[in-house]
Amino acid sequence: MKKSKKILIPLFYKKKPRRPLSKKQKGLLKFTLQKFLFKKEKVQNSKKRFLEIGFGYGENIIHLSKKNGDKLIIGCEIYEPGIANLVSKIESENLKNIYIFPENIFSLLSKLKKNSIEKIFILYPDPWPKKKHYKRRLISSVFLNKINSVLKTNGIVFVSTDSEDYLKVILNNFLLNKNFLWVNKKISNCYKRPKDLIETKYEKKANIKNNKKYFLKFKKIC
Ligand SMILES: C[S@@+](CC[C@H](N)C(=O)[O-])C[C@H]1O[C@@H](n2cnc3c(N)ncnc32)[C@H](O)[C@@H]1O
Repeated sequence: MKKSKKILIPLFYKKKPRRPLSKKQKGLLKFTLQKFLFKKEKVQNSKKRFLEIGFGYGENIIHLSKKNGDKLIIGCEIYEPGIANLVSKIESENLKNIYIFPENIFSLLSKLKKNSIEKIFILYPDPWPKKKHYKRRLISSVFLNKINSVLKTNGIVFVSTDSEDYLKVILNNFLLNKNFLWVNKKISNCYKRPKDLIETKYEKKANIKNNKKYFLKFKKIC
């Protein structure tokens, strides 16, 4: 009898840009991006590494880069206008410590060394509010096991969301995973954005909608 194959990597969905990429964006993606592409050999000498997953237009990763000159910051994103925007900022601001992985995070997680990342930032992962799209949500038990393996012990994961439904799912997944400790401990400690983070484009939208925002912090304990 044929065994059914278990899907271990959640489905991911690449959002189409609202308008076609401009000539400048195409150039940034085809040529300039090459200088900042993540490659295993480029990052292996650095001991201090941060990872931002789904950096959007890159506001927070630029902030991290400027505040942490001694760290290497790896950014992962699949949305081309966002990647082009970050590439343009890295170039114009002459930032030296950012590497970009312009593909699905699951491919990157399998390339990173075990116990090599100090902090992971996941700011406003797509909430996918419709039930039929839940399978596209990034944060799942499979995902947590994968990020646990690349994080150093005592490494930190920051997650923010403005979706109360997704908040419950995120918390549930982390609380069920014995490898993580919820540092904030209760929801009332999650309303204030930690100093490590800045307001992103998605957060601005959440503010316009008057949505409550939650900033969760977890620590890898084993
Ligand atoms: C709601 S946006 C938030 C963007 C940004 N963090 C912010 O706060 O403005 C979520 C981002 O995650 C990216 N994303 C979703 N799934 C991804 C995956 N599997 N790998 C890499 N990036 C992903 C999307 O392309 C999108 O830009």
